[in-house]
Amino acid sequence: MTCRQTTPVRLAVSSANAFAIRWSVPNGSGVRAARSSRQGEGQCRSWQNTFSPLPSSFHAAKPSRLPPLQNRLYGDLNEYKLATANGDGSLKALILAGGFATRLRPLSCTRPKILFPIVNKPLLEWTLEGLARSEVNEVTLATSYNIQASLKQARILKHGIKITDSSDKLKKPLGTGGPIKKAEKLIGHSSPFLVINGDVFADVNYAEVLKLHREKKAVATIVLHRVEDPSRFGVAKLASGNRIERFIEKPAREDAPSHLINAGVYVLSPGIFEHIPKDQKLSLEREVFPVLAEKGELYGCVFNGTWTDIGKPEDYLEINRTMLKAHANPQVYNTAKDAEIKMPVAVDKRVSVGKESIVGPYTVLGQGVVVGDKVRVRDSVVLPDTVVMDSASISGAIIGEGVTVGERAKISKGCIIGDQAKINDDVTLAEGVSVCTAKEVLENVLTAKCIV
Ligand code: GTP
Repeated sequence: MTCRQTTPVRLAVSSANAFAIRWSVPNGSGVRAARSSRQGEGQCRSWQNTFSPLPSSFHAAKPSRLPPLQNRLYGDLNEYKLATANGDGSLKALILAGGFATRLRPLSCTRPKILFPIVNKPLLEWTLEGLARSEVNEVTLATSYNIQASLKQARILKHGIKITDSSDKLKKPLGTGGPIKKAEKLIGHSSPFLVINGDVFADVNYAEVLKLHREKKAVATIVLHRVEDPSRFGVAKLASGNRIERFIEKPAREDAPSHLINAGVYVLSPGIFEHIPKDQKLSLEREVFPVLAEKGELYGCVFNGTWTDIGKPEDYLEINRTMLKAHANPQVYNTAKDAEIKMPVAVDKRVSVGKESIVGPYTVLGQGVVVGDKVRVRDSVVLPDTVVMDSASISGAIIGEGVTVGERAKISKGCIIGDQAKINDDVTLAEGVSVCTAKEVLENVLTAKCIV
């Protein structure tokens, strides 16, 4: 079966500024994003392909609690409920969120990966939204320190999900397996539960994975995603009936047994706790999955929808690009008459764009960003409260929160600017330069390096 989905971009323009913006759309852009998925036994679909699309008000209204299931979904509800039902009606998930996110420094020095915004909405909120759709009602965050304060500040919508924290001890990271054992009491032994890598964006229908997991009586079921180069992931070799017969973590490209990689989303049965020692650092992927594969207790569910792991800056930019196709929102609060917004662009609250500036395509501007006159910003994500002064240009970069980009400054592809940094007037940053948090850059940097 092939599903075709169209996702129209909303052109929501405030009446005061409607006349001021010249819309232009690049050829073949995502104004109509078409996606297809091959559907067969043991494959899990994205939500968008499982049921009729959510009402457009779902994304626009940001409800504090999702509307009742029957108002949202138009698929086979009985089948859906069968798939998710636990004896006591509860469904739990654990989000692994305590890694060091070294590859996203310097931006990860000041925010956990789960709070990186994707088209102006924190990754965690996207994940909770998906979990709420699968009727998950309790989520444990396995962090390396208590992040409740950051969560509060980020104003995450919890969608009615109860969130508990289970942090690793200070300076004693537990890896990807140890936090699961640590949360054993919170999760309990009554039913299977979900585990999600906090740096993964996936539009998976979790209910379908749970259904397969129960049918196969698996100890672990991994969501698998097909990629061109599997060498930086865990790779699975699928046998018949969705059994994974081999699982290898980060093999050399020529040794990879397939192109199906671990998407960082699992269903685990309580039996998993027997495989993880208490209070010890352990890698689920290297030390547990290969053993389960040998015992015939590891299963896989292939997912063909939107998926990314935001581990690297280029992946972070790419998922913003992908999501912009469906979630563009160019409603600029204060735009000069002759500014130009090239779709797709997403703009948060209180953004202003000055005279003769061109913003987009593929650009996200966070809340309170100020763009001066004759500025050019494209293919970039700019986090809240940053000021881009007159005649500056930004292309293919990630700019942190509260940054100042001076007049005529030039920020090139692959640059990452830490929060509160200041790039002085007339400074050029060549491709791949990163600038640490609160650093002031006074002169040109013409080779890729990190300015500390
Ligand atoms: P890099 O340092 O850039 O590799 O990032 P990372 O370690 O955060 O990510 P990695 O892909 O190695 O980890 C996968 C998931 O497991 C991420 O969501 C991490 O936050 C999480 N994780 C990794 N190590 C730990 C840990 O020691 N404790 C906890 N609680 N979570 C972890």
